[in-house]
Amino acid sequence: MPSLSQRLGKLAPYPFVEISRIIAEKRAAGADVVTFGIGDPDIPTPQPVIDRLLTASQDPPNHRYPETDGLPEMRRAIAHWYKQRFDVDLNPDTEVLPLIGAKEGIGHAAFCFLDPGDVALVPDPAYPVYAVGTMFAGAESYVMPLHQRNGWLPDLDAIPEDVARQAKVMWLNYPNNPTSAVASQEDLESALRYCREHDIAMLHDAAYSEVGYDGYRAGSMMQIDGAKEVGLEFHSLSKTYNMTGWRMGMAVGNADMIKALFQIKANLDSGVPQAIQEMSMEALTGPQDCIEDNIGTYQWRRDRVLRALTRMGLNVETPRASLYIWAPVPEGFTSADFAARLLEEIDIVVTPGSSYGQYGEGYIRLSLTTPDERVETGCQRLESWTIPAPRA
Ligand SMILES: Cc1ncc(COP(=O)(O)O)c(C=O)c1O
Repeated sequence: MPSLSQRLGKLAPYPFVEISRIIAEKRAAGADVVTFGIGDPDIPTPQPVIDRLLTASQDPPNHRYPETDGLPEMRRAIAHWYKQRFDVDLNPDTEVLPLIGAKEGIGHAAFCFLDPGDVALVPDPAYPVYAVGTMFAGAESYVMPLHQRNGWLPDLDAIPEDVARQAKVMWLNYPNNPTSAVASQEDLESALRYCREHDIAMLHDAAYSEVGYDGYRAGSMMQIDGAKEVGLEFHSLSKTYNMTGWRMGMAVGNADMIKALFQIKANLDSGVPQAIQEMSMEALTGPQDCIEDNIGTYQWRRDRVLRALTRMGLNVETPRASLYIWAPVPEGFTSADFAARLLEEIDIVVTPGSSYGQYGEGYIRLSLTTPDERVETGCQRLESWTIPAPRA
């Protein structure tokens, strides 16, 4: 076996690869597993979007390599969506880049701004790709702890001045995975101001902007004056249009930063398959009713799961957005122990908060992307379960 790179040795197992393996093992042994694990919408992609893919797949030009920066119509559809949704003007030729899912763009963005020895300001707990991309680029993550007492927002004043001077990138993600916290426009504005003062690239991941409850609708960082000076915002069609399986996202913002990401991508991938771009254009510019329908479904599930967790005696905040419930574990348990006991004793899968970083310890994350009847089954199991004593 040839030797492998050091960076591979630094990688923790990707949380959902391990969880999928355990679920498969349990199911093979005959268990009726209910999963509140990965955030992967169970609701099908809207039919008009699928129809467009079927037509697009018959068109021979779509059988060939796409351009890295996508079809001009695709970039225009993204700019149109931003205008409709946020009243933000974007130049589709310079300020917009289609991605093979937000994850791809987030991972590759590290190569645009970070050299070995540089510093990235990375929240914790967080979607793991910000820190992994940083490590792949040979740079260091400076952890910005997120605490409940601060509304799961970073305390920018706590970042030492010498770290701020070295930092090249700040990652933020609101509505947040895994905590489901939201940020106000003022919160995003102070982060942007901080980044402008310190000449830091502000990278905002807004993958959950379209899942808001009780009338909450997230804003965009691009609505803030000066955002285009240092900022990129990442979006995804995955959760908004139930399209995790098709792989489509976008980055928008500062034209030089978009160009940098384009250059990295042009050397590593060949863009989004054109038939997928066509279906994505349909999603972004066609009827938007699936968004409200999704929210209705998730809101019912959110309320059902909150009821079950409250009946278990857990003290859970009501999320205003995202696909997740972030619940503190009972005293005496670690996140991983509690998740393991749920799986062992009642065949329920949740994600330990510690998979999202050291400051996720003490919590579990439950995803609402499981069909209603399975949510009901899972909730009944949770409610009738007597929480065991922690193992010594
Ligand atoms: C915060 C966050 N950003 C990005 C993504 C990835 O989105 P995509 O499916 O577009 O790659 C996820 C997926 O779970 C996520 O939670």
